Amino acid sequence: MADIILGIESSCDDTSAAVISDGVLLSSVIASQDVHRAYGGVVPELASRAHQANIVPVVSEALVRAGVGAEDVSAIAFTRGPGLLGSLLVGTSFAKGLSLALDCPLVEVNHLQGHILAGFVRQKDVPFTHPEFPYLCLLVSGGNSQIVRVDSPLKFEILGQTIDDAVGEAFDKCSKMMGLGYPGGPVVDRLAKSGNPARFKFAKPHIPGYDYSFSGIKTSLLYFVRDEMARDPLFMENNKEDICASFQRALIDILMDKLVKAAKDTGIREVTIGGGVSANSELRARITSEGQKRGWNTYLPEFKFTTDNAAMIAIAGYYHYLAGERTALDVAPAARAADL
Ligand code: KG4
Repeated sequence: MADIILGIESSCDDTSAAVISDGVLLSSVIASQDVHRAYGGVVPELASRAHQANIVPVVSEALVRAGVGAEDVSAIAFTRGPGLLGSLLVGTSFAKGLSLALDCPLVEVNHLQGHILAGFVRQKDVPFTHPEFPYLCLLVSGGNSQIVRVDSPLKFEILGQTIDDAVGEAFDKCSKMMGLGYPGGPVVDRLAKSGNPARFKFAKPHIPGYDYSFSGIKTSLLYFVRDEMARDPLFMENNKEDICASFQRALIDILMDKLVKAAKDTGIREVTIGGGVSANSELRARITSEGQKRGWNTYLPEFKFTTDNAAMIAIAGYYHYLAGERTALDVAPAARAADL
C-alpha cells in the first residue's frame, strides 16, 4: 500500500495543504492572505484569524484534488516551527485534531527543513532531478539566511547564518523605504531588471566564517537615500531602478561570497537554494553562472516550491515517517528554530 502523507503548513501568512503518495505530489493548495498588503507587512493577529478561516477548506480541497479519502492518509505532517506562534498554533491544533479523529500518526516538520528538501517533491510527468548528498543549500527567506550542509533527508548542519536580519527583510525594507509595497522582494527584483547595478555602492559587512549580517547594509541604504533626497527631492523617484539594481547586487554579492567560500572549504559541489528569496531572478542567474564557472551541479527549485507551501512539508514529513518518527499529541508549536 502507498504511503500517503497529508502536509499542513501555516507558519506565516500562507495556509497550505498538500498530499503526496510515495513521494509523488498528488495535490497542493495554497491560500495566501492579501489582508496584510495594506499594512506593509504580516500582522500576526490577522494571520492567525485568516488561518482559522482557511484551514478546513484548504485541507478538504487538497484531499479532493488528490482523489484521496481522509481515511486513506498514512500520516499527517505539519509545520511545528519556526514561525509566528499564533499561525503555528492553528496548523498544529488542526493536525492534532485530525490525527485523533482519523487515528492517524502525526509527524512534526521543521519549516526550514521543508524548504531545504523542496527539490525532492516528485511530480508526475516532470523529470525528477535533485542534488546528491551531501549538498549545500543556501536557504534565504523573510526570516532566515543560512548555508546548510545536508547529508541526508534527516541530517542537516547549519554552517553559517545571519547574526541579525534575514536577506528577505532587507529586500522588504528597501521596498518599504521607497514606498514600493509589500512583499518587497518581487518588486525590487522587477525594477532591478531595468536598472544599473553598478551605479551605487553599498558597504559590505565583514563577518567571520560563513555567517551573514544584513542590518548594516539596510541602514546604509536608509542614510544614502535620506542624504540624496535632501539634495534632490525627486532623487528616489528618478533613480528607483538603479537603486534597486545596486542594492540587490550588493545583497547577492554578500550571499554568493559566503556560499562560494563554503563550497570551496567543504569540497561540496552539489548546490541548491530554497526559501522565498530563491525566487529572485538575479540570484538564480548568479548561482547558475557561478556553478558553471566552478563545476557545481546546481539545482533551482521551481517557483511554486520557493515560497511557503505544504508540498515541502509533506515530503520532509515523508522521510521522518519512513524513519519511524512519530509525534505525540502533547506537542506544542515552536516559534524559534532553537526550540525545535
Ligand atoms: O519563504 P518565504 O515565502 O516566507 C518566509 O519568510 O518564511 O519568503 C518570503 C520572503 C519575503 O521577504 C519576500 O520579499 C522574499 O521572500 N521574496 C523575494 C522574491 N520573492 C519573494 N526576494 C527577492 N526576490 C524575489 N523575487
